[in-house]
Amino acid sequence: MLFWDDFSEGMFCGGGFSAYDLHVDCIPTSNVGSVFAGHKLLAIWRYPEDTRAVMREHGRELFVPPLTPKQVSALERACCVALAPPGSIYIFSGTNAHAVCNVGIGSPGGAGEAPPPSLVVSSYEAFVGLNRQHVDVLLDTCSRGACVGLDASDTDSDLEEFMEEVVDTAHSCQKRLRLGEVNEPEAVAEMLARVSEKSVRARRALAAGRDGKDSEASDSSGKENTEGMNLMCLQETKRQRRIVN
Ligand SMILES: [Fe+2]
Repeated sequence: MLFWDDFSEGMFCGGGFSAYDLHVDCIPTSNVGSVFAGHKLLAIWRYPEDTRAVMREHGRELFVPPLTPKQVSALERACCVALAPPGSIYIFSGTNAHAVCNVGIGSPGGAGEAPPPSLVVSSYEAFVGLNRQHVDVLLDTCSRGACVGLDASDTDSDLEEFMEEVVDTAHSCQKRLRLGEVNEPEAVAEMLARVSEKSVRARRALAAGRDGKDSEASDSSGKENTEGMNLMCLQETKRQRRIVN
């Protein structure tokens, strides 16, 4: 994988018809949601055209009852509307426009009993695999370098830190590819080529790795060397995770 964050950075907790407004995540990963209690209603729109269109018309709106006729129409253009029950796991890309509404009921009881009221509790992990489109979207988002108009819970510095981790992981993938330790060498090689092509920072880091200059180019402080290359990206960050392929 090019990125894997199994460190949950927060729990989402709310009552019935609380919601998260329509948005696109600043950090371009696939999200793995886990629902621990209650039901979560999620709508997503295709990337990129439908995402841009619905964001233009409804960005930051809450999709909760009573829905306006325009919101109903927008939901009819969603590529998926799903109800995630307690105990479920769901995956979607945060680069797709998405809106969430909590449905504050638990699992139905036995013998036809009505489901009891419940808080809705969920959390997320995230990953980016070797899928070509996912890698391209990641690189395009990071090349813009700003979270303008997107999820305000993330900042430009979060995006910067994210890209550091991606470059670090790509560098590790390159080492493992060279050692014959990856299961899908062609996919990894293609990913590395795309990352090198679209990211100057990654290109420099991977070139240093290929030429065996990692130790020469870095100094103990991790500050930029004389070539102006920031090698902090090659150092282990606190959120780094083991690369799985
Ligand atoms: Fe989101």
